Amino acid sequence: MSPTIPKTIYLKDYEAPLFDILTVHLTFLLHETATQVTSRMEIKKRTPRNVPLVLEGEHLILEHVKLDGVLLHETQYEQTNQTLTLHNVPQNFTLEIRNSINPTENKALDGLYLSSDIFCTQNEPEGFRRITYYIDRPDVMSVFTTKIIAPKAPLPVLLSNGNLIEAGLLDDGYHYALWHDPFPKPSYLYALVAGDLGLVQDSFTTRSGRVVDLRIYCDHGNEPQCLHAMHSLKSSMRWDETRFDREYDLDIYMIVAVDAFNMGAMENKGLNIFNAHYVLADSQTATDKDFLGIESVIGHEYFHNWTGNRITCRDWFQLTLKEGLTVFRDQSFSSDLNDAVLQRIDDVSALRSRQFVEDASATAHPIKPESYMQINNFYTATIYEKGAEVIRMIETILGREGFKKGMDLYFATFDGQAITTEDFVWAMGEANGVDLSAFSIWYAQHGTPQLEIQTAYEKASQTFTITFTQHVKEDKVLVIPQKIALFDAHAHALALDIQGAVCLHGDTLLIEHKTQTVTFRNIPSPPVVSINRHFCAPIKLRFDQDDNELAFLMAHDTDAFNRFESSQAYAMKILKNLLAAHQNAQPLAVPQAFTDAFKSVLLDARLGFALKAKMLEIPSIELLMQECSDILIEPLYEVRNFLLSHLAHTLQTQLVTLYESIPDGTTYEITPQAMGVRALKNKLYELLSKHTNPSFHVRFFTRYNEATNMTDRFAMLKILSNLDTPLRLETQEDFYTRYKHNTLVMNKYLSAIASSELEGTLDRVKTLQSDPIYDNIVPNLVRALVGGFAKNPRFFHAKDGSGSRFISEKIISIDLFNPQLASGLAGAFKSYPKMHPTLQARMKTKMEEILAVENLSSNVYEIISKILNNQS
Ligand code: TRP
Ligand code: ZN
Repeated sequence: MSPTIPKTIYLKDYEAPLFDILTVHLTFLLHETATQVTSRMEIKKRTPRNVPLVLEGEHLILEHVKLDGVLLHETQYEQTNQTLTLHNVPQNFTLEIRNSINPTENKALDGLYLSSDIFCTQNEPEGFRRITYYIDRPDVMSVFTTKIIAPKAPLPVLLSNGNLIEAGLLDDGYHYALWHDPFPKPSYLYALVAGDLGLVQDSFTTRSGRVVDLRIYCDHGNEPQCLHAMHSLKSSMRWDETRFDREYDLDIYMIVAVDAFNMGAMENKGLNIFNAHYVLADSQTATDKDFLGIESVIGHEYFHNWTGNRITCRDWFQLTLKEGLTVFRDQSFSSDLNDAVLQRIDDVSALRSRQFVEDASATAHPIKPESYMQINNFYTATIYEKGAEVIRMIETILGREGFKKGMDLYFATFDGQAITTEDFVWAMGEANGVDLSAFSIWYAQHGTPQLEIQTAYEKASQTFTITFTQHVKEDKVLVIPQKIALFDAHAHALALDIQGAVCLHGDTLLIEHKTQTVTFRNIPSPPVVSINRHFCAPIKLRFDQDDNELAFLMAHDTDAFNRFESSQAYAMKILKNLLAAHQNAQPLAVPQAFTDAFKSVLLDARLGFALKAKMLEIPSIELLMQECSDILIEPLYEVRNFLLSHLAHTLQTQLVTLYESIPDGTTYEITPQAMGVRALKNKLYELLSKHTNPSFHVRFFTRYNEATNMTDRFAMLKILSNLDTPLRLETQEDFYTRYKHNTLVMNKYLSAIASSELEGTLDRVKTLQSDPIYDNIVPNLVRALVGGFAKNPRFFHAKDGSGSRFISEKIISIDLFNPQLASGLAGAFKSYPKMHPTLQARMKTKMEEILAVENLSSNVYEIISKILNNQS
């Protein structure tokens, strides 16, 4: 076992800071291997007691410390590799610290580092302490001024937060820039960028008439690929004004795209830093999904200006205060700008495939955790996506206007402060005269709640009853909003005359008890129930609807989201039945009724293309794994492929006819209509790829060659990457040759190969590691290749242990330089408790080997030790 066990930090131990830092002046003398940082802080002790000043600092070389202008002797402070402590400091004083740092050696991408010759920073959550000694916590807010000094030729662009105050030339080819941010902020929102960058400029006039200078910086030559991001930024600014009355507050808003970045993007005040993947796009290199992703992440970081920056977190246990709320805001934004039903389907699919898995694993935690070892491990699907679902339920309960009133009170009360999730919930309740204290359990209880549904119809009294039973982790009863509809045989929604539950807005029941029976009166015949409409609560339903009901809802539900939902529930039911047959060594057969329901979707002329494509989806192996225990991987592939192949063969004519009836668009547009055409045609080919007739392979290859955009081309690459045909290699080689100079497109290439179901995948993955397009230091590439392979269940769980061995070795070697990236890969072991003992045994050995590594990071230690020790 690891020699040093990292310390656990508890929310209950929170104490307010003992010092305020009123202002900080930073001076950077940039150098690739020895950047000199001078920090002058005005500090005020908050208490009359004589308490020491403890500053955090890591990987810093200290040069001097001056207190009120007087140089301190080494004996006047204490230094460890994580702190700098000063005893007997006055009530008010200035402290000047000079230290040096090495941006080139910083491969953790935390603090100040170089990403292909660009100096940039990442300080959330605790990166600032790798720049200089500081009270590096979000409840210490200060006014920052930055002077950057650098050689002009290689580093013509010098940026930091706030407004540019002054710039000029210095001796010896150096120049400088002075930036001042008038808004007090925590250190995690601090940013600095320096490099030789291309620029795209535009402007935005706020509702009150202020003109804001908008700038996107990128590598020279990529400027034309920034237009969609710029457009998205302006849409975001307009949307926050109209939906939430929030205006931007500085004269300039900058975005910088970099290649090497640990996450998607970062909301630094006035100077967002982005993973280039979420900035650069054009029809030839980005898919529809990429375009939508850019719009949502640009929105997300912009919306943080109010939910995160102006109002920030008191401590990192409050992370969902800014992240859950901001994800909810970006989802609402995307939903208003695009197809709301599709947006909901995509958001729910992401929640199911990532958050539900996490919530069922040993790393499960409430959206407001009580403890952590390494805060970087808590930027999770739970904090973000489940956090957003909890906010959405508040909106469902209060209604859209009530929610807006709550937000108004929130901004008015807490602007400029570092606060807690309780403060947020208070504002929501207070503004609406509603008590949300019972609802707050959602913040504290982990696990996906299951809601069991039992129904009964009584002819004599014309009543229909639904009994709801909550199955929750720690048995703390939740408040669950349930949007509901009852349909008669003609698919008419029946009027709801309800007893036994609070009913809001005419269609939303509040489920508030462990078991609760709700009665509906004046129901002339047994109705079909549509429940959890629009996925109004992040739960799993335990509801045995029969095949007829599911097919009925697929065809007739007035909530389009639930039409999709029923299609997935029906397909899942079939998969589980097939799996049971497989386990009992019975012959596999697909019921005709399911094939008919699937065919009705294909032939439904009133169904939009995009929704049709979603409804033709068969649940993934990952989703199927959630429904199983004692998992052996191969049977899952067998039954899923059996179902797909059955549909491809029986419905071949309909699939081909529909495909051919839809003309490809002539110009590339990212409208819901145009994206729907591409999504459906590619989905039809994906289904046909399970047909054994090789003549289809030629069709896919032709579509690949004739593609006029990356969406279609990449879809065909993925299909062909799973087909055992010589055309596969031909396609892959062509793709490589066409795009090898574009690292973002190479991510797609790597992930297509790493996720292939064909034998030989591991060898190809290993070989690609030494390909010139690959670079260990760039997280996007590692996540595409190694992460893509880790999410390939067939090979990660390979019988000879080769897959899990490869991943554990990668975790260990990457941990040496980028612990955050390594711990992300460690998530591959989350399925441990669900696997069959033979597979578990292999995983266990690998996890033990990881834990035995000397100097293992706390990031990887926390994830692996929790998975290994908490086996449920
Ligand atoms: N706050 C960022 C966001 O909202 C998250 C983030 C970006 C981050 N980079 C990070 C978190 C690095 C931890 C480490 O998207
Ligand atoms: Zn965020």
